[in-house]
Amino acid sequence: MSHVRRIAVNTGGGDAPGLNAVIRAVVLGAERRGWEVLGILDSYDGLFEDDGVVRLDRRAVRGITHLGGTILGTTNRGNPFEWPVGDAAGGERRVDRSREVVDALADRGFDALIAIGGDGSLQIAHGLAGMGVRVVGVPKTIDNDLAATSVTFGFTTAVETATDAIDKLHSTAEAHERVMVVELMGRTAGWLALYAGLAGTADVILIPEIPFDIGSVCAKIEQRYASGRRFAIVVAAEGASPLGGERVYQEMKHGRRRLGGIGAVVARAIAERTGHETRELVLGHLQRGGGPNAYDRLLALRFGSAAVELVEAGRFDCMVALDPPEVLAVPLAKAIAHIKLVPLDGDVIRTARSLGVCLGD
Ligand code: F6P
Repeated sequence: MSHVRRIAVNTGGGDAPGLNAVIRAVVLGAERRGWEVLGILDSYDGLFEDDGVVRLDRRAVRGITHLGGTILGTTNRGNPFEWPVGDAAGGERRVDRSREVVDALADRGFDALIAIGGDGSLQIAHGLAGMGVRVVGVPKTIDNDLAATSVTFGFTTAVETATDAIDKLHSTAEAHERVMVVELMGRTAGWLALYAGLAGTADVILIPEIPFDIGSVCAKIEQRYASGRRFAIVVAAEGASPLGGERVYQEMKHGRRRLGGIGAVVARAIAERTGHETRELVLGHLQRGGGPNAYDRLLALRFGSAAVELVEAGRFDCMVALDPPEVLAVPLAKAIAHIKLVPLDGDVIRTARSLGVCLGD
């Protein structure tokens, strides 16, 4: 058992439905134990600002379980180990502010930190643990690509949002006899595209794990049109890439680039090769928005409660994880060791093939 009086909680990286439910479970669980909880705003940014750390009590977390976003704010540009700093020439360089973070946490008297985040945030948490911070991680991401947990909260809500969009595209695709290409999130892993694509009965699903042959994609579409179904739905994860080709990026400021645009590339190629009228849609941040579904609310509440239990038990540098039917603890090092990809011999891929869905190969 560890001696605890005051803990901090923060949310880092891209948001995901369920963050607020975790925060509520942390605050109520901590209050029940007589601990004080403070929220660090915008990942770690709040530690460097006068009013960047806020008291969280029962009243502050009332009525937030079903709300999307995060009451603490978040950023995916706040890595204390690689803090972006603008220079006089309008460029950007990275500085290591991790020691300042460790000191700020100690100065404020935090006995532990509960860090809610995805791969990047959990790497930061593990780094801070190596510097002596007593930290417990909570896995979130709509990408579901974190190893060591069977699922992250936010994923199934995003699958529902994307499936709903694909459902809606069917009627307009059919009315116009068009091919509709939908680009979904998923940088390295295709969980979201695969699950939403299957649930939404897409004809083609392109995921990062399977480089695609545009010839196979077009053959599937032609076969469908020839059978009398004169429209088609193609789902592409943003990280999908053609056989022997590159992933598609958008160039940003300061030499940064962001994945995005594969949907348009695929749509153009389909139109050119098949002659069928084709449109593309990028679902984008809609997939991260909105409140969590019941499954994600419950998972988030369980994760938050379990994180408080770990703090109480003095088990740090670890992450709560779902290992059905239980939530348990895994070392952070194991959680961030690798990205969880879709297994190509798994039953979901086999189901897709059995249904005749083209996976681009
Ligand atoms: O949450 C992960 C993710 O959804 C990725 O799939 C996507 O590439 C990224 O976030 C985009 O995040 P942002 O636009 O906030 O940088």
